[in-house]
Amino acid sequence: MSSIMYTPFHLRNIQIPNRLVASAMFEYGADNGKITEKIKERYLALADGGAGLIITGMHAVSVSGSVAPVMVNTEYDNYVADMSGIADIIHERNGKIIVQLQHCGGKTSTAEGYDKFAVCEKQVAENCIYHEATKDELHKVAADFATSALRCKEAGVDGIQIHGAHGYLINSFLSPSTNYRTDEYGGSIENRARILFEVYDAIRQAVGNEFIIGVKFPFSDLNENSIKPEESLFVCKELEKRGIDFIEVSSGMVMDNSSASFTPVVHNDRQAPFLKYASQLACQIAVPVISVCGYRTPEVVEKALSETKISAVSFGRPLVREPNLPNRWKKDRSPAACVSCNRCCNSFGDRIISCQAAKVQK
Ligand SMILES: Cc1cc2nc3c(=O)[nH]c(=O)nc-3n(C[C@H](O)[C@H](O)[C@H](O)COP(=O)(O)O)c2cc1C
Repeated sequence: MSSIMYTPFHLRNIQIPNRLVASAMFEYGADNGKITEKIKERYLALADGGAGLIITGMHAVSVSGSVAPVMVNTEYDNYVADMSGIADIIHERNGKIIVQLQHCGGKTSTAEGYDKFAVCEKQVAENCIYHEATKDELHKVAADFATSALRCKEAGVDGIQIHGAHGYLINSFLSPSTNYRTDEYGGSIENRARILFEVYDAIRQAVGNEFIIGVKFPFSDLNENSIKPEESLFVCKELEKRGIDFIEVSSGMVMDNSSASFTPVVHNDRQAPFLKYASQLACQIAVPVISVCGYRTPEVVEKALSETKISAVSFGRPLVREPNLPNRWKKDRSPAACVSCNRCCNSFGDRIISCQAAKVQK
């Protein structure tokens, strides 16, 4: 059966073989920041499973900007060779690969040796351990993004994605609910988006015009003092002017790492909660828009792709449960087996992100 899901689309000059994207999922398994065999196996499974585009879990632009030693960082000596191995695995299977780059801001590890700056001062327990980021620290963040992106380009991946969502550094600047700064990084949306623009510009200058740069963008913070729709549109249009290649629309921020989930919880009976934002954005810009979150049936995916101007949809948790979902839906269109329980957030013991619900059912 032919389906719009399996038609190609383009990011810049690169053809993506279908419209089913693996969204970034933290790998939980780096060995002191380094890519492991288990991580390579996960990407092999995703590539074999048929996702046209695979976005890696967030990789830290500096060791000090990461959340824990189980997070891959782009700084270690063999990163380029290791990522190159993953890129080869995916390219051999006709897929495309993009690395998600991240500085965790006020979510970095509280241990010694990690950056201790955030958008504004931040208390952890009784102590104020994160200070308001200085301009020098922010300039270093932008420079680190550029260096990391260059390393990814050297590794032969197809592009990078800036993680601008889910309450980490860039999102915390964008949102008035967390940004109380009074300098040129706070206040108006032009100021709150300054760090994102600086990061984007630094990367583009480093990698040139042919390399794909995307962003995972938080269209709404889903809280009372959220970024407003017109502000999100302004930022995305500004990124379009600067030459961004795709925007993956997410939403929601969780500032507390002790929360059971650090992503908006969605349930199978309430699919695609952020499609309304993605579809609104796709009507206003020419840049390809990817819609993430809560896609669980082929019917909902096909409706989104055919009735709106989005280019693709992306999946997080469903591909942890079933990496072969994109291929499976070619012959068996039953819903994704993922029950959105978020227990994949407890994958530390497995040293790789994995479906804890599936383990219980075995
Ligand atoms: C365990 C876990 C890890 C995640 N890691 C990342 C990440 O590294 N980067 C990111 O942008 N989003 C991350 N997300 C969010 C997903 O990419 C996705 O936006 C979210 O799960 C909603 O999509 P879904 O309903 O298809 O799972 C993570 C989500 C979960 C549950």
